[in-house]
Amino acid sequence: MHTLRPALKMRGVCETDLHELHRLDNQVFKVTPYPYYVLRQLFDVYPDGILVLDDGMSLQGFACFATTADRQSSWVLGLGVAPDRRGQGLGRRLMLEVLRRLRQAGVHEVRLSVEPANVAAVSLYRSLGFTPEPEVRRDYLGPDEDRLIMRLSLG
Ligand SMILES: CC(C)(COP(=O)(O)OP(=O)(O)OC[C@H]1O[C@@H](n2cnc3c(N)ncnc32)[C@H](O)[C@@H]1OP(=O)(O)O)[C@@H](O)C(=O)NCCC(=O)NCCS
Repeated sequence: MHTLRPALKMRGVCETDLHELHRLDNQVFKVTPYPYYVLRQLFDVYPDGILVLDDGMSLQGFACFATTADRQSSWVLGLGVAPDRRGQGLGRRLMLEVLRRLRQAGVHEVRLSVEPANVAAVSLYRSLGFTPEPEVRRDYLGPDEDRLIMRLSLG
């Protein structure tokens, strides 16, 4: 039997979402979630830089981004979709909205770091026009945490 799932609304994060966002981040990034205090302070510094997908009861996806002080370039700092919601276009929907907001803000370039073996994420970013640096950066996020840096020019 199919259970009808509530529609998802994309919106900016609220302070009251932070514990639920932390739960989702732990579910998505089991080994390397952000500590609660990092999410808290990201929210404090970039309140407009966290988008969530809300089904009315819980959060099902999120994207975090931050723009440099000169407003020229931004970093996508996190993207996650609840495991049983993947493959339904939600990651793309979040990223397209992030890019739309950054274009509107006049940002010229977007960067992000991704685990080189993360096929789903790398494919998503490539499909959006991101290109990888030629070399993986060793220990980029700490010992044995190699990352591929990908960038997209917004013109
Ligand atoms: C990466 C992630 C956000 C993608 O979200 P999603 O909602 O499942 O992705 P979408 O359904 O929007 O798919 C968009 C594109 O991503 C790629 N993709 C998604 N899942 C894929 C998979 N399992 N294998 C290969 N490519 C995949 C495809 O290019 C897809 O486009 P298509 O549907 O036209 O083929 C999700 O898998 C996730 O939360 N992963 C764990 C957290 C993570 O790795 N975040 C990124 C850190 S940099």
